[in-house]
Amino acid sequence: MEVLIEDPVLLKQWHPVCLSVDLTDSPKAVEVLGVKIAVFRTAYGVHALKDLCIHRGVPLSLGKVVDDGIVCAYHGWTYDRCGKCTRIPSMPKNRAIPAKARTNSYFCTEEFGFIWVCIKQPQDEKPMIGGGKLNSPDFTKVHMGPYKLNAAGPRVIENFLDVSHLMFVHEGLLGDSEFPEISDYQVHQKNGVLVSDEIEVYQPDPDGRGHGVQSQYTYKVYNPLCAAFTKKISNTNEFFQLFLIVLPVNEQQSTAFMVMERNYALEEGDQVFVEFQDLLIEQDRAIVENQKPELLPLDLQAELHLNCDRMSIAYRKLLKETGITFGTA
Ligand code: FES
Ligand SMILES: [Fe+2]
Repeated sequence: MEVLIEDPVLLKQWHPVCLSVDLTDSPKAVEVLGVKIAVFRTAYGVHALKDLCIHRGVPLSLGKVVDDGIVCAYHGWTYDRCGKCTRIPSMPKNRAIPAKARTNSYFCTEEFGFIWVCIKQPQDEKPMIGGGKLNSPDFTKVHMGPYKLNAAGPRVIENFLDVSHLMFVHEGLLGDSEFPEISDYQVHQKNGVLVSDEIEVYQPDPDGRGHGVQSQYTYKVYNPLCAAFTKKISNTNEFFQLFLIVLPVNEQQSTAFMVMERNYALEEGDQVFVEFQDLLIEQDRAIVENQKPELLPLDLQAELHLNCDRMSIAYRKLLKETGITFGTA
């Protein structure tokens, strides 16, 4: 049964539901906070309706887009982009369509190469990645995902912010277990964004191109389900930034999307970076899908923390402060 997750924070936030390139002529079924939604594209833009025809309960995402609406696959009822039923083919032409013949609509927009949905009146007029904009147009961007994970969103974000796992989960790539020590760092709050000091990590093969470097990581948290790290590579001008935005599908499942920015290896095809990220996500999947408890404990007494976990501690505190209930215990 469908149950809306009544999270006071996330219901008013924009969530990425798919890559723009993946929404073409047909409607697409997605799920946000437990609600099944059909997203579709018309000449007017992108739209989101509850994925349920009120006639006989068939998902509208099985139907097709015609003009500015969706035609249900079962008996051809047509819903406009606001969710109002505008045509019931089996009804005589001179009969009015009952006012009750409608389905819910949600806020939907397209930005940064993603389709975004918000369930209630959005807190921000537009979706944000990295405080409102992606970096300079000079940086090459690569979109990654969707990565479907059987884990709650906050677990996925916390894993991304965890520096001391690099040497073990991603050994030989993002870290080396012979160099596991993390020097102490602090986390600061700047304009509502959590930002770590630079953290030094030796990386044998950090982006799939096969050579080792000394990197300085800076982690950032923009909101409960959007984080990033920037990485400077010692003795170069190379800059790398990876944004992670997690769609809260329901309490047990989430979908991760990423945008990578870089100012080097511009001749390299996107596929090299995407395939590398695919590999890293599979390594993380083995961890996040098996962590207990499934919900992130916000009580800091519940687990043991070290200095190297300062970013996770700050993240858990931030979740508590924002009043988020989804995916936490
Ligand atoms: S179930 Fe949709 S038109 Fe009948
Ligand atoms: Fe990881």
